Amino acid sequence: MDKVQQTKEAAERIGKRIGEQPKIGLVLGSGLGVLADEIQNAEVIPYGDIPHFPVSTVEGHAGQLVLGRLETQPVVAMQGRFHFYEGYGMKEVTFPIRVMKELGVETLIVTNAAGGINTDFEAGNLMLVRDHINFMFTNPLIGPNQSEWGVRFPDMSEAYDPAYRRLAQQVAEKEGISLQQGVYLGSTGPAYETPAEIRMFRSMGADAVGMSTVPEVIVARHAGIRVLGISCITNMAAGILPQPLSHEEVIETAEVVKPRFIRLVKGIVQG
Ligand code: 6GU
Repeated sequence: MDKVQQTKEAAERIGKRIGEQPKIGLVLGSGLGVLADEIQNAEVIPYGDIPHFPVSTVEGHAGQLVLGRLETQPVVAMQGRFHFYEGYGMKEVTFPIRVMKELGVETLIVTNAAGGINTDFEAGNLMLVRDHINFMFTNPLIGPNQSEWGVRFPDMSEAYDPAYRRLAQQVAEKEGISLQQGVYLGSTGPAYETPAEIRMFRSMGADAVGMSTVPEVIVARHAGIRVLGISCITNMAAGILPQPLSHEEVIETAEVVKPRFIRLVKGIVQG
């Protein structure tokens, strides 16, 4: 069975369990899954209950879809995402985005934990993604193009919607949340980078580095979904501070940022 058919089957199964079409999709990054707990009248669907869905493995990720209302808006949230470094193919990593499109999602808010490369940043900052660099040495659109999904050569010149970014900045200002803005570089992981790699990424124009987001955003743009990206700078990247990097630090910082992150995303969803 082809991916188009698989997507339809997955969306159909989800559709049977929900009363209302989600308009906004949320991808919740490492340590940021708590946002899904704010969704009212939530229908929780474990990935394992959805046909053709891969199953999430990494710690700090629940592995379920949460559908319901955030503020007044119908949303679908991924509590846990699929990472390329787990061994999933690019088509699997981005399958949930295709399903979201099939469910009626028009806008995607992608979030992630990222290492700070810009030396003006510090751990605990939130960064609006202005643009990205695909440093994963592959692309989720490689292979025959499904013309019912999108064009062969999608434009990426304004992948992160400028008007939506302005809204995010207005919300941040109103809420008194300081919000950095910068370029996210997606690397495969799972090893963190060396200091030399981080210097290279900085010279290439990257402000933050992470192991996700880029594939999902490419597929969302291919599907004509409007995208907003928010990085939680959980730590500084290698070679900036004297201490080594650890996943524990990533989870700890995400914990501290949570209340601000929740307020910001709720405000953006509210419009
Ligand atoms: Cl420093 N690098 C990568 N690739 N991902 C991260 C990170 C660093 N910090 C959090 N996620």
